[in-house]
Amino acid sequence: MPGKEKMVIVGGSPLEGEVHVSGGKNTSVAVIPATLLCDEPCTIENLPDIDDVRALVDILRSLGAVVDYEPGEFMKVDPRPANGYQVGYRDAQRLRASYYLIGALLGRQGRAEVAFPGGCKIGQRPIDQHLKGFNALGAETDERGGTIIAEAEELNGSDVFFDMVTVGGTINVMLAACKAMGTTVLHNAAKEPHIVDLANFLNSMGANVRGAGTDLIRIKGTPYLHGSTYAVIPDQIETGTLMIAAAATHGDVVITGCIPTHMEALSAKLLEMGVRVTDSDDAIRVRISSAHRAVNVKTQVYPGFPTDLQQPMSALLTTAHGTSIIQETIFESRFKHMDELIRMGAQIRVVDRTAIIEGVPQLLGAPVTATDLRAGAALLVAGLMAKGETEIYEPEYIDRGYEHIEKKLRALGASIRRESIES
Ligand code: EPU
Repeated sequence: MPGKEKMVIVGGSPLEGEVHVSGGKNTSVAVIPATLLCDEPCTIENLPDIDDVRALVDILRSLGAVVDYEPGEFMKVDPRPANGYQVGYRDAQRLRASYYLIGALLGRQGRAEVAFPGGCKIGQRPIDQHLKGFNALGAETDERGGTIIAEAEELNGSDVFFDMVTVGGTINVMLAACKAMGTTVLHNAAKEPHIVDLANFLNSMGANVRGAGTDLIRIKGTPYLHGSTYAVIPDQIETGTLMIAAAATHGDVVITGCIPTHMEALSAKLLEMGVRVTDSDDAIRVRISSAHRAVNVKTQVYPGFPTDLQQPMSALLTTAHGTSIIQETIFESRFKHMDELIRMGAQIRVVDRTAIIEGVPQLLGAPVTATDLRAGAALLVAGLMAKGETEIYEPEYIDRGYEHIEKKLRALGASIRRESIES
């Protein structure tokens, strides 16, 4: 269904000032389902007020949990009354991370029926590795009528060898393994910061997860997890998007409340382009005084260049001096935004999973459509750097992952507003 609003940006002015990063989307969407593993109430802080978080509140409530959610403050979850194990199509389709309910419900009560997840259409996104992990722990899994059914009399710790590095697979199996009997060892595990954050949250409830952040994670199952109060880490991708937007508009922005060590792959690329990046313990300053140079980017699992920043980065590269080559190695359809950038005057050729970008002096505002969350972020960056007015249709995609983004950009001097399409 087409959205009812559009985002309107008048580009061309440099972003300047200070902006605070919100809590991480991809960590929040793992930590919230993980509260179902707890045997007492727990409280999560620093959650971003975004659509994915609101969808999970509805899902937890539908399962019977008592959720007290004060956006921007805290989410208190009492999972004790939750006895549901089904997540239907309408709820599951609201976000990709609804599949974490399978691991969490399996761990909690040995049974889950969760419809196939929604989320950004950036490739096929199979979940065979998640199911393989559940099977290794002793669960039976089946797929019927668009629903994944997972059941286990008892979960038993086991070795799980992932065929590829998968963030979702690592998280999902970690969730189930927390309540399994004995020890589970995840081999070829993903190392993203939110995997470490989830492990820290689980350990704060008394779980025994060791090695998160390396490719070998050991989880000793624990029958009882106690309540905890936990603040999720800042959003690595929002931080990166703001860094790119600062560079793209030739601005001078200090991004506060972030973790600079999570940003090293992007910082290194920006430095290579001639952008000035300086950081302190929890802030990064990005500024640029002269034209920026083209660079090549290849997406990789952490600590490589994140696929989630490939799209915003490609917007920045449209006006870099020279030819940039982007290789997308994680998802097969993450170039849908390129046609929209071309509409704004970019010179881009896509061959399979490679995009060749010839820098042009300037982008020009145009009507464009977001096709997924980070495509929307790319168009946001492009709109900020373009001359004239850009209208972004389907801005709801951006709302899935960026908290109060217009307010934050306006405070940095951007001209950005939302309009009803009917008006
Ligand atoms: N894969 C399989 N089988 C599986 C699992 C993954 O073949 O069972 C493949 C995927 O098709 C893909 C690759 O392995 O080619 C990596 O997928 P991964 O499982 O790591 O990604 P994901 O869990 O589906 C999460 C984030 C994405 C982020 C990727 C990579 C969430 C909810 N989603 O997706 O975030 O791009 O990891 O870092 O955490 C976003 O925030 O915009 C976003 C798409």
